[in-house]
Amino acid sequence: MSFELSPIDKAKFAAAKRATAYVKSGMRVGLGTGSTAAWLVKCLGEMVREEGLRISGVPTSSRTAQLAREVGIPVMSLDEARWLDVTIDGADEFDANLNLIKGGGGALLQEKIVATASDQMIVIADISKQVETLGAFPLPVEVVPFGWRTTKVLIEETLIGLDVLGRSTSLRMNGDVPYVTDEGNYIVDLHLNRIGHSRSLSLMINQIPGVVENGLFIDICDVVIVGYGDGRVEVRDINNGSVERGRVDFLEADNIFTDIAD
Ligand code: A5P
Repeated sequence: MSFELSPIDKAKFAAAKRATAYVKSGMRVGLGTGSTAAWLVKCLGEMVREEGLRISGVPTSSRTAQLAREVGIPVMSLDEARWLDVTIDGADEFDANLNLIKGGGGALLQEKIVATASDQMIVIADISKQVETLGAFPLPVEVVPFGWRTTKVLIEETLIGLDVLGRSTSLRMNGDVPYVTDEGNYIVDLHLNRIGHSRSLSLMINQIPGVVENGLFIDICDVVIVGYGDGRVEVRDINNGSVERGRVDFLEADNIFTDIAD
């Protein structure tokens, strides 16, 4: 394969590669889901295979578990690991307080459980994920299949009293049938356009019977690593308020570009 990555993939790779500096031998590492997290898993796999990195990965989806095994990362469940040193994952949106919308890939429930069970959560993202106010990306809400239509109506009624710009909802589909999560649930996407008070909205939505979890990650993320298409990276740490700038080189010799299919 020739070394041809789109600028967006270069940005995702740069963020993922920079994030590997947070991973040390002996760690239990939460492995996120999505295209950016897949770069991370490939990078870590290369370090396991070629540099002797010894880690245990706790995947946040069946997709990530499969990829981790393919690249050589030993995998364990969260119940085996109990608590993690760090989780590294992508995001659909992040704001200046490092609050997030996640779940575009449908893995929000396991992602939130794993991130919350970690000493540190690091988000890797290209700059297009940065927003002033959360909500342009549809907010995923995982609901149990039983009575999902009623749950959807209850969500819509709850939104009437909340500070949002749009209130339409849609059941996520997989072709002609509902999309089913790894936990066997459905996802209702909320088209809110702008979320005024994300913390209270998250609490209100989660109180509705039938709702399992929503894709707002409030006060969970510690660090966002932003990647750019030219290899620049920015590491923003919410706990110490620092912003560190650097650069990641794209090496044609990097095996991750040649031996694992997306
Ligand atoms: C998966 O359910 C999501 O939370 C992803 O982390 C999010 O959608 C980001 O995915 P990409 O890295 O593919 O944009």
